[in-house]
Amino acid sequence: MRLNLGCGGKITPGWLNVDKFPTCNPDQVVDLERFPWPWPDDSVDEVRMHHVLEHLGAQTEIYLGIIKELYRVCRDNAAIHIIVPHPRHDDFLNDPSHVRPVTPASFVLFSQAKNRDWLAKGVSNSPLGLYLDVDFVVDTESYLLEEPWGHLYEQKKLPFADLQHAIRLYGNVIKQFEFVVRPIKPAGSRVAAPPASVQAADAPLVPGEAPVNMVPSALRSEDA
Ligand SMILES: C[S@@+](CC[C@H](N)C(=O)[O-])C[C@H]1O[C@@H](n2cnc3c(N)ncnc32)[C@H](O)[C@@H]1O
Repeated sequence: MRLNLGCGGKITPGWLNVDKFPTCNPDQVVDLERFPWPWPDDSVDEVRMHHVLEHLGAQTEIYLGIIKELYRVCRDNAAIHIIVPHPRHDDFLNDPSHVRPVTPASFVLFSQAKNRDWLAKGVSNSPLGLYLDVDFVVDTESYLLEEPWGHLYEQKKLPFADLQHAIRLYGNVIKQFEFVVRPIKPAGSRVAAPPASVQAADAPLVPGEAPVNMVPSALRSEDA
């Protein structure tokens, strides 16, 4: 089964299109903030959550419940495709139904291998994978640059080091993160290293900070 969660108007053939609001004619009306989700354990091969996670879980307990349900319904190594606005982009700030920032680095907190490593090293990042009994690895990640940054970078008028600097300092540089996370089941059964870009999270994480060596995705326009 493939789930298009928070499908909105993007009804996709071949996927089970799910939304809280019947007005967008989803295949199934589900409020993802209510538990348990109506799908069996290990029944899902692929999940799409495009511009959805930042709308969910204003209360931390609810957000963490969503992460637990995502883990429960997915089979081992399922592909969970996530797109979220960058928390320092106006797209994130302008929508009153955006309730929390979501970053690829925040998903590293759900990696039990990283959690164990941090505990051994005395690093104070929250070991949420161990606390929630979930285990995820960030498999691929990229970001979409806002203009003029995208074209300056593409035309080689902006060195990568300067782009990294701008990402750290300014708003409206990265428009959105695009990444794939995969559950490891049973939890703790494999040590899957996150990509180099999120290994920077060995240092204490700064919520909302972009990993500095992520790769920009191809330039294209997309709604927030
Ligand atoms: C910004 S829209 C994105 C729609 C679509 N995925 C896209 O990329 O265009 C966010 C969607 O999440 C849905 N949503 C928000 N909260 C939800 C919830 N608690 N349960 C299910 N869907 C929810 C909204 O109804 C809306 O359709």
